[in-house]
Amino acid sequence: MSSYAITGASKGIGREFVRQLAADTGNTVLAIVRDPDSPNMSELASDHHNVHVIKGDVTDPKSILEAASAAAAITGGKLDVLIHNSNAVDMATMSSNPTEIPFDAQAVRAIFDPPLSTGIYGSLWTTNAFLPLIEKGIQKKIVHISSAMADLDLINNTGVSYAVAYSVAKAGMNVQVAKYAAELGPRGIKVLALSPGWVDTWEGGKPSQVVEAEKVMLKQFQAAEPELKGQIQPEESVRKCLQVIERLDAETSGLLLSHNGDKERWL
Ligand SMILES: NC(=O)c1ccc[n+]([C@@H]2O[C@H](COP(=O)([O-])OP(=O)(O)OC[C@H]3O[C@@H](n4cnc5c(N)ncnc54)[C@H](OP(=O)(O)O)[C@@H]3O)[C@@H](O)[C@H]2O)c1
Repeated sequence: MSSYAITGASKGIGREFVRQLAADTGNTVLAIVRDPDSPNMSELASDHHNVHVIKGDVTDPKSILEAASAAAAITGGKLDVLIHNSNAVDMATMSSNPTEIPFDAQAVRAIFDPPLSTGIYGSLWTTNAFLPLIEKGIQKKIVHISSAMADLDLINNTGVSYAVAYSVAKAGMNVQVAKYAAELGPRGIKVLALSPGWVDTWEGGKPSQVVEAEKVMLKQFQAAEPELKGQIQPEESVRKCLQVIERLDAETSGLLLSHNGDKERWL
């Protein structure tokens, strides 16, 4: 009988966390989404009686505080595991290299704001809003879904020079995770940055530019992991992430780990 809250639960990895966790009918699963009325969410909640859909935007402190209050009303004020999974990026500049960042303050803010708002400010607000519930929970685990794109060895070994703002935000998230682990460790709370692997979460038909970009990425990633064949599916990523979360303890608190539970097999 455990309780889980997942942000960014409307699609991709977040929705797969909800699906797998809800399969255990003893779990209470709180799916935090920006649009609880979307057909996707109604379907998920009607298929699983232990799923509760809660409105929450991680980039809006008032909204995420209200989400934590709604969660507390459902669980009796406690929560075992918080999974902060939300992420946003400026897709138009994802392929830009650092030397292509323009000398234009407004344009640069537009590139950096989505990942910083979700990954940095959103991480802080979500963690702080749900902390009173986590303190009353049994497992006392907070997990931030990060990325190997913020691992310096992976960047240096693969030569991936693009996705600058995204990678910088995830690197900042990893530092915040270590800070939280240092502060909350004495209170028995474990905090982890977790990379889910390279996961195919594209919905609908993939445009040819995306297919081409993924071919380039595969070649680069193979420099670090020669056996890599391509992206994994959300089912595999989340199944492995849940095993890592299950094993999270005081020893691994504060780290960035892969879905394989190590600091080597990132993809
Ligand atoms: N896919 C990969 O290969 C990969 C690799 C490494 C790390 N990751 C990380 O894994 C996580 C999930 O990835 P994904 O591929 O499943 O992403 P995704 O399909 O783009 O989904 C992102 C989720 O974040 C939500 N979101 C965006 N802005 C939000 C906000 N302001 N407040 C609340 N929720 C918000 C979206 O909800 P809306 O529907 O409301 O927009 C959506 O549910 C992300 O943190 C990502 O960085 C993914």
